[in-house]
This record gives sequence, structure tokens and C-alpha cells, in this order.
Amino acid sequence: MSETTDRLASIERDALVALAAAEDDAGIEGWRTRVLGRSGELTSVLRGIGGLAAEERKAVGAEANRVKAVLEAALEGRREGLRRAALASAEADALDVTLPGRPLRRGRLHPITQVRRRILDVFERLGFQVIEGPEVELDAYNFGALRIPEHHPARDMWDTFWFEDDRVASAAAAGTSEGGAPSSARSPLLLRTHTSPMQVRFMEQHEPPIRVAVPGKCYRYEATDATHEWMLEQVELLAIDEGISMANLKGTLQEWARQMFGPSRRVMLRNSYFPFVEPGVEVAVDCFQCPGDDPSCAVCRGSGWLELMGAGMVHPEIIAAQGYDPERYTGFAAGMGVERVAMVLLGVSDIRDFHANDPRFLEQF
Ligand code: FA5
Repeated sequence: MSETTDRLASIERDALVALAAAEDDAGIEGWRTRVLGRSGELTSVLRGIGGLAAEERKAVGAEANRVKAVLEAALEGRREGLRRAALASAEADALDVTLPGRPLRRGRLHPITQVRRRILDVFERLGFQVIEGPEVELDAYNFGALRIPEHHPARDMWDTFWFEDDRVASAAAAGTSEGGAPSSARSPLLLRTHTSPMQVRFMEQHEPPIRVAVPGKCYRYEATDATHEWMLEQVELLAIDEGISMANLKGTLQEWARQMFGPSRRVMLRNSYFPFVEPGVEVAVDCFQCPGDDPSCAVCRGSGWLELMGAGMVHPEIIAAQGYDPERYTGFAAGMGVERVAMVLLGVSDIRDFHANDPRFLEQF
């Protein structure tokens, strides 16, 4: 082996190692200049071949050409390898526009909101205007103006949450939205127990004919069970006009029930007492949970009926107190529990589920 062949062998070995270490285009180009370029290592060997002894020239020339061919092929291979790697990493980072989108989690209306809207839709079609009133209410409206004076036993049915601060009471008295000045500016404040105070607030501000539906939250200091919560929504109805009778009340409520529940749900009116109506009734529908005679049924307790609302003819004293002539004007009123209606419509057997905020329950509606 000649010195030149040794040199060729070491050029080949070192060049292949260096090429494998070239990581990018610049590295490869540097390698090419250094090894195969015009003043590169291999080129200088090739140039020197002419000066070799004739017998050596042929063998060294052939070996030099072989090394050159090997290194050129290795260069091409390395370039191709880098191109492929670059392509693969570009593909990995690429945005795949054909990928199906992630589903959006859409919210929904709370079942009580859905049912309240359905209730009001029917009453609006029947000619009632929807209005709202304050949840923080004066004793004078929640009780006094509805013929429930202090110490009246009806107050026991409607115990509630009271405010202790008198300044809050006078602020509310000054700024009531729908009503005018309350009968007593010093009247204690409470969370209203029903929407009936809006009967008085609305009559104070308007003349007959009146047809209003009043949705809103009410609060009671109450032991909870499958049909009772301490916070409930009601929808109050009030119609005042000449010639309004109990038949109008019955007809309105029956038509409302037919549109809400369909013709097969049975509706019952039975006598009841509320100080602000005369006569008073309770409206119930047949139990959806049991055949109607199961004493262990939490919905009807074996009575076969679930009470939805109280109603009646507005007491003539209340009509007179608003300055209307009770001989000329009569009216009916009703107050229904929205959660109770929702129980019947949605087949929910425990009212407490509505406000327990469990998404597994709420997602069903
Ligand atoms: C009243 O609140 C009267 N203001 C209704 C009324 C209006 C009578 C106009 C006459 C004229 P009562 O307390 O019965 O009445 O409640 C009316 C309805 O609200 C009940 O039938 C029931 O559907 C619902 N309700 C009452 N208490 C609760 C409670 N704790 N939890 C859930 N719903 C209730």
C-alpha cells in the first residue's frame, strides 16, 4: 500500500464520519467544500496523481475515483435523509384541516325557566300582560293590604325572612318600582312569601280593565320535602273588569291547564281560604307519580292530587281600597307554583332536585 492509498483511506473514513455529523444544509455545504471542493482534500489527492510513478498511477487513480464516487453518493444520501426529516417534522406540526371539530358544550335554559316561559306563553295568548315586581317587599304589601293584619293566623302559613335594618326599609319604600307610596313608610321589610302583593301594587297604579300575569321568586321559612322548597317561583294572575265571575276564573284556568298538560290531565278546584279572596279555591291536578291511592307516594301522599295554585275572586274590600267601585268591578286572582307545574310537566317527583344544581339532573331537560 502506498502512502497515497493510505491517505485516501483516511480521507474516506474521516469524511464519512464528518458527513454523518452534519445536521443541516450549512453543515453539509461546508463538508462538501472541505472534502470535494476545488481545494478540498480529495481534489488535492487527485491533482497529485499525475506526479506519481507510472505503475502506481493506475491503481491510485482507480482507488481515488472509487472514494470520490462513494463520498458523492454519501453526500446525496445525507441530503435526502435531511430533506425527509424536515418534511416529517413539518407534517407533525401541520394543521390538519380535515380533522373534525371538537363539539362545543352548549348551555341550556334551566328547567324552571323553560316551564315559566311556557306558562307565560299561554297566559299571554289568553290576553294577559306580563309584569314583574320586587322580591324584597314591605310587610304592608305582602300582608297588610291583602287583609292579613299582624297576629292573623294566615301569617303562620307564610313565615319568611325578615330584614332588621329600618334604613333598608325606608329606602325600599322610597324607591319601589311598580307601586306608589306604601301605606306605611316604616313598614318592616321581608322577602315576599308570594306574588300576591303585586295585585295591590298594580291596582294602585292602573285602572280597570286589568289582565296581568306576574312571575317571580318567593321565599318561605319552611321545612322542605318532596313538594316544598324554601325558595319557589310563582306566577300570579289578576283580572279586574266589569262582570268578571267565578266562571271566568274556572274557564281561564281550565284552558291554561289544557294547553299546558293536554286534555287527559284532570284538574280539580276545591274550596280553600285565603284572606284576600272570596270565595277561595285550590287548584290541583291528578297525581302523575302513583295511581292516586298510594299512601307512600311523596307527590300526593295518597290523596291522588297535587296542588298547583290558590285562586279566587278578589275580595271586594281590596277592590274598594284601590278606589274602584266594588259594585261595578269584580275580578279573579290566582297564584301558582312554577316548580309544581314543572314537576307535573317533566315528571319530576322531588321538587328539591330543581335547585340542587346537579348537572346530571339538569342536563336531562
Ligand atoms: C299563595 O301563595 C297565594 N298567594 C295564592 C293565591 C293567589 C290565592 C291569588 C288566591 C289568589 P299558597 O301558599 O297556597 O298560596 O301557594 C300557592 C302555590 O305555590 C301552591 O299551590 C304551590 O303550588 C306553590 N307553593 C307554595 N308553597 C310552596 C313551597 N314551599 N314550595 C314549592 N311550591 C310552593
